[in-house]
Amino acid sequence: MTTRPSITFARHAAPKKGSAVLLSAEDGGFGKAAKAYGPADTLKRAFAVADFSGKSGSSVEVVAPQGSPLDRLVVLGVGKAANLKEFDWLKLGGQIAAQFRKSAEVAVVLDLPEAKAAAKVGGAEAAAVAAGILLRSYSFDKYKTRKDDADGKAADKKPSKFVIHCADPAAAKKAFAAAEAVADGVMLARDLVNEPANKLGPLEFAAEAKALEKLGVNVEILTEREMTKLGMGALLGVAQGSPRGARLVVMQWNGGKAKDKPVAFVGKGVTFDTGGNSMKPAGSMEDMKGDMGGAAAVTGLMHALATRKAKANVVGIIGLVENAVDGNSQRPGDIVTSMSGQTIEVLNTDAEGRLVLADALWYCAQRFEPKFMVNLATLTGAIMVALGQFHAGLFSNDDELSARLTEAGLATQERLWRMPMGPDYDKLIDSKNADMKNIGGRFGGSISAAQFLQRFVKDTPWAHLDIAGVALSSPPSEINQSWGSGFGVRLLDRLVRDHYEG
Ligand code: BES
Ligand code: MN
Ligand code: ZN
Repeated sequence: MTTRPSITFARHAAPKKGSAVLLSAEDGGFGKAAKAYGPADTLKRAFAVADFSGKSGSSVEVVAPQGSPLDRLVVLGVGKAANLKEFDWLKLGGQIAAQFRKSAEVAVVLDLPEAKAAAKVGGAEAAAVAAGILLRSYSFDKYKTRKDDADGKAADKKPSKFVIHCADPAAAKKAFAAAEAVADGVMLARDLVNEPANKLGPLEFAAEAKALEKLGVNVEILTEREMTKLGMGALLGVAQGSPRGARLVVMQWNGGKAKDKPVAFVGKGVTFDTGGNSMKPAGSMEDMKGDMGGAAAVTGLMHALATRKAKANVVGIIGLVENAVDGNSQRPGDIVTSMSGQTIEVLNTDAEGRLVLADALWYCAQRFEPKFMVNLATLTGAIMVALGQFHAGLFSNDDELSARLTEAGLATQERLWRMPMGPDYDKLIDSKNADMKNIGGRFGGSISAAQFLQRFVKDTPWAHLDIAGVALSSPPSEINQSWGSGFGVRLLDRLVRDHYEG
């Protein structure tokens, strides 16, 4: 598993061994504390040779600097000091972790020129750097039995030790408690997405969710029998071809006022999607082990909120099934009755996520009457055609919720792009033989999928995030090198933190 680096906070003091990281701003260079570290002339020469001016993303490394007890000095450019936002500090942490793999002892000197009043490095900034270090250090290697891989990750080396030097280590430590909770939620989501489907089916996933009870989350697990009683024919129709069962997991974190209605998050948890009888082609089918990315994000979010004891009432619901091929799998043309009473003609068994969510959303709205529901799902390939891998699709019946989500997306850089909905699109899923069919036409595939979901939310403020392009097979970034990104955890933690706590 990931070798987790150790991270501590300390007051500024010149380190006597190991390595040091300094920050240098484009507008003003080093801060006072940072100046004490490096032999100024060595650094000046290095800057000139490397043409380093402190631009964001740039760096200079000096090995065994003359006249210094240190092994390495790394100077990171941060751009204009006054422009740094929370995400920039997280990214900086990622860049720092990337410079030091294992066995390193690193002093990270968080200091910027005093003159830039807005550039003060406080506890929140130090905590974000630390969280960035954790997120970047994640790797999914639990199934690698050989000690040294081709990419040089020697499993027998010790994890790096980072000491973050800052002005107020006590404040940083306090802020890090919350930031670490969120990072751990992200890494839990990544673990769940990366795990292969032979190891993680609906029951195994439900057991992972159950483990949140130790954090004070109330976890209920509905079995097929209970779902049958509730009339969840849409979800159960998807599951019927798999010998590995189906579960609906209901997680509740009650950190808010007793009378406050909860906010709710609902996740698609298809632990493997073969497509069923409308089977997928072989190419990249292995990616469908990640078709539970929505459920993983909801589980990671509940982990984060409970660990940092968020002052909010939050419900997390995940629908866990495997979409398998079998003599008992549902067939194209089958008509199922959802918990809402609405009937669905299943014209394509590969459009299964919406069937799972139809019952999960309806159940959530009926039982909890939440302030809003946000569902996350790796729902359509079409959303990748539309938006690529850098935005998730946002579909919603509520402008305020959409605006808040979009804003949280910009702050966390888990970006969303709102897509259109409306009656024209809704018509596309009317069916000759039932109340609706589970596919629209050839065009606007992510929109007809969203229209389908909307038929199961009634008047509840609702948003659907189509995360097929961002939750799995992710392009590497400063804070993520893993196939499963954990997309959604930081975003929704931020939404809750900014608008629904206290
Ligand atoms: N899980 C897939 C969508 C998906 C594709 C997620 C690639 C991640 C990566 C979903 O269940 C699906 O198969 N959707 C179909 C819908 C179609 C049959 C209307 C699709 O997108 O092709
Ligand atoms: Mn599918
Ligand atoms: Zn799917």
